[in-house]
Amino acid sequence: MATPAVQLRPATSSDTGEVLTLQRAAFVAEAQLYGEPDIQPLRDTPDDVRRAIGDPRTHVVVAVAVDETEGRPGRLLGSARLVVDPEGLAAVVGRIVVAPDVQGRGLGSLLVQALHDLAAGLGVRRFELWTGGSSQSNLAFYRRHGYVDQETRQDDRGITLQVMRREVPAGSTEPT
Ligand SMILES: CC(C)(COP(=O)(O)OP(=O)(O)OC[C@H]1O[C@@H](n2cnc3c(N)ncnc32)[C@H](O)[C@@H]1OP(=O)(O)O)[C@@H](O)C(=O)NCCC(=O)NCCS
Repeated sequence: MATPAVQLRPATSSDTGEVLTLQRAAFVAEAQLYGEPDIQPLRDTPDDVRRAIGDPRTHVVVAVAVDETEGRPGRLLGSARLVVDPEGLAAVVGRIVVAPDVQGRGLGSLLVQALHDLAAGLGVRRFELWTGGSSQSNLAFYRRHGYVDQETRQDDRGITLQVMRREVPAGSTEPT
């Protein structure tokens, strides 16, 4: 199926509720995979999301439906964030979520690409993220986007996380 038609734009504080709803819907699958209903993305509060949206070093991007094909125009179909370190050379990619009914149609890839493009404009050279060590489809997804396995660590619920990094090749101005 075709990738849903979306507008990618920075989130605003009025997106807080829908971003959190989407995050909770999308991360249920991860929680079920680990038999742990209390993973951090499911514990985030509206204040956490609002703070992220308002933080100048955190760039929250949302993918919004442009027509009624996936329900209604303006429906929030995806979201992702990039947290840039104070030196501006490295960033953490996180909370990549796509509405469960439109997953597997390229929206997650669009969001990763959008973060990479945004980061290129900021001069970011290194990306880091983590995902559940048993989340095979997430691991494959990130590897396809240039991320390489690094160390593992435990989250606060004892789940093993795989840390992954991606370096922008030296001399490249375009990280994707
Ligand atoms: C991880 C996540 C963001 C990926 O989003 P997505 O929209 O499904 O991603 P894409 O469609 O770009 O790519 C996923 C798969 O669909 C395939 N695909 C890409 N474009 C496609 C299209 N137009 N039609 C059909 N399939 C497509 C890709 O080949 C990819 O295959 P894979 O399963 O082998 O990786 C999404 O699954 C999600 O929200 N998961 C729950 C939350 C989560 O775990 N987030 C990551 C935490 S670290």
